[in-house]
Amino acid sequence: MLVRVALAQNPYNVHVGAGILAQVGEITRRALRHQASKAFLATDSGVPAAAVETVAASLADCGLPVTRSAITPSEAVKTLETFHGLLQAMARSKHERCDPVVALGGGIVGDIAGFAAAAYQRGVPVVQCPTTLLAMVDASVGGKTAVNLDLGTDGLHKNMVGAFWQPAAVVADVQVLASLPPRHLRAGLAECLKHALICRDLEDPDLLEWIGAHIDQALALHGATLEELVARNVSAKARIVRGDERERAPEGGRSLLNLGHTFAHAIETLPGLFVGGTPGPLLHGEAVGLGLIAASTCSSAMGLAPPGFPGDVAALIRRVNLPATVQGLPPTPDVLARMAHDKKARAGALRLVLPTGDGKARIISNPPVEAITAGLDAIRA
Ligand SMILES: NC(=O)c1ccc[n+]([C@@H]2O[C@H](COP(=O)([O-])OP(=O)(O)OC[C@H]3O[C@@H](n4cnc5c(N)ncnc54)[C@H](O)[C@@H]3O)[C@@H](O)[C@H]2O)c1
Repeated sequence: MLVRVALAQNPYNVHVGAGILAQVGEITRRALRHQASKAFLATDSGVPAAAVETVAASLADCGLPVTRSAITPSEAVKTLETFHGLLQAMARSKHERCDPVVALGGGIVGDIAGFAAAAYQRGVPVVQCPTTLLAMVDASVGGKTAVNLDLGTDGLHKNMVGAFWQPAAVVADVQVLASLPPRHLRAGLAECLKHALICRDLEDPDLLEWIGAHIDQALALHGATLEELVARNVSAKARIVRGDERERAPEGGRSLLNLGHTFAHAIETLPGLFVGGTPGPLLHGEAVGLGLIAASTCSSAMGLAPPGFPGDVAALIRRVNLPATVQGLPPTPDVLARMAHDKKARAGALRLVLPTGDGKARIISNPPVEAITAGLDAIRA
């Protein structure tokens, strides 16, 4: 399947299929505008070696011998230091402006390698090869790249430093999901639910119902289901990004994709959290799932969504077997302070994306503290 991300300046294709990592060389060659003589392959140490070899061989067969650099991903290594290390490795490999970076891994590797591609010599092409469901349906598409900023005692601030840098192509091979730990597969489904909650106007009004009906097949790694899941979610994201590539629209636009994320970013790097007795940290997708419940509860508390809506969202999250509550959440004022630091804040105002229960969402500046508190209380175990 091919999904076109039809941006005015930098359009590209997202290839979705089974066994297509063997075509990365060919796809990269076709996507490049200039002659390249080599590639820099940033890999994720969690990806099976066979997949890495397939990609390296495919690139070499197309005249792009690779220099490799492996990252063991975690939010703690998604830093300027790791970014710096990649740039140094690229420079040592004599990477030139026409040569592509190929990012093979989850969202963390994609974000760091994408940012390195954006910065190296003021920008070299990047081909994203996402290997987690979350990276396939979300992180690899749309051109946001970033690392976290460590503010010492003030904590790790998610994706605080980065760039918009659209990939030249994306290759999502659903076969590689076979080795993904089930917990990460579920985390990816949280971003799918996020898309489904806001896509009524995006030519795919039935996405929520379709996901609801196919959760079990997706979790059982049914190939055709995964391909459709990825392609429909990429299409939804592509339509939003096309209308607002740089997230500048005052209302709606790309900001809608932050549904659940202001809550999620505030809690996902917090120490001391427990889910069902298991110590944190939470996965990004797990935090997003909790964020969807908090946002829908906040929305309902403000009368923007029907009273039964938060319960429906929580039920979907539970069906995916994602956590619907978390233990050890700090007192509300502390979480609020972290939310206020969110990079989506404008002119000091906290802006929350609140789903209205009809497949749409609204962006609300400075919602009442009581409504946010209701949202946080809904996910507090
Ligand atoms: N740029 C964007 O638009 C965007 C959007 C959403 C999320 N993100 C970012 O993405 C990150 C989360 O990404 P993620 O959920 O992919 O997590 P991740 O990158 O940490 O990967 C999850 C785990 O799976 C392992 N892994 C990856 N592929 C595998 C495979 N095929 N088989 C076995 N193990 C595999 C990794 O080594 C890692 O341990 C966050 O940092 C988030 O901020 C970015």
